[in-house]
Amino acid sequence: MLSEVLLVSAPGKVILHGEHAVVHGKVALAVALNLRTFLRLQPHSNGKVDLSLPNIGIKWAWDVARLQLLDTSFLEQGDVTTPTPELVEKLKEVAGLPDDCAVTESLAVLAFLYLYLSICRKQRWTKEDLELINKWAFQGERVIHGNPSGVDNAVSTWGGALRYQQGKISSLKRPPALQILLTNTKVPRNTRTLVAGVRNRLLKFPEIVAPLLTSIDAISLECERVLGEMGEAPAPEQYLVLEELIDMNQHHLNALGVGHASLDQLCQVTRARGLHSKLTGAGGGGCGITLLKPGLEQPEVEATKQALTSCGFDCWETSIGAPGVSIHSATSLDSRVQQALDGL
Ligand code: MEV
Repeated sequence: MLSEVLLVSAPGKVILHGEHAVVHGKVALAVALNLRTFLRLQPHSNGKVDLSLPNIGIKWAWDVARLQLLDTSFLEQGDVTTPTPELVEKLKEVAGLPDDCAVTESLAVLAFLYLYLSICRKQRWTKEDLELINKWAFQGERVIHGNPSGVDNAVSTWGGALRYQQGKISSLKRPPALQILLTNTKVPRNTRTLVAGVRNRLLKFPEIVAPLLTSIDAISLECERVLGEMGEAPAPEQYLVLEELIDMNQHHLNALGVGHASLDQLCQVTRARGLHSKLTGAGGGGCGITLLKPGLEQPEVEATKQALTSCGFDCWETSIGAPGVSIHSATSLDSRVQQALDGL
């Protein structure tokens, strides 16, 4: 099943514009970040295989023999199938997770085990493999939060900057290397509930909510146009447009009911320093992004990060347009990543 160490990384990602609207068939713009999550699967001579996911603090070991007992006939069906409840139960049994394991952690391990048994058997991935990874990651998303649009798994798989609408993906040709702050408010939220909340609001007030979704769609299209222009001929005014789009979308997302006091605070703290922010993803807490315009001095960036950290948030400075999911050789990894994988 596995004879060598398997090292995989996937980019962090954010939705620039179009979250929630994308669930209703509108356009979303999503970008991969230069912040990566690593995973290592390491076989040992004692018949065990170790899984390390240092970014979420998971280290787990399985007996290879037990994994081999698992009925993997579902893999022979060729294409992607939704995991049945029986299969999920079997995976839980084989994974042997303790009862007190946090739900998200155990789902992460189960989703991984499912995907591993299906696709992680190669040392190099072709376009077809990536298509399959994307499909399986979509199934993983379904295990985790119900009825996803598919934008999140697409951008993590393909990387770069993507326009996504109803399963149709196109890459932005020359996306500018925007610098952003990614801030985690650490307020927990449930994507399934937030998506359902927007649907209910749309059903309750169609005349009010449908135009908001149409407007968000137009924001995504305008952002795509400006990013294209920035790739060709960058000019400072383009940042002003991006900032206005961020502000308008943040207000729309609040009107959809997916804001949160912590996100308002994030926007206020950055606004006080002349920077513009919006929530990204499902909202209701979770993460926000702040656009860092060129010419901003590093001490000012540091002061903003410090102000956000003082609110109890985690904050990272990063850039957009990273490569998608990648397989690595053990020797090519940065020593800090190696240490994190070894140090758990
Ligand atoms: C969550 O990251 C993004 C949402 O639009 C849901 C989805 O697209 O599946 C809220």
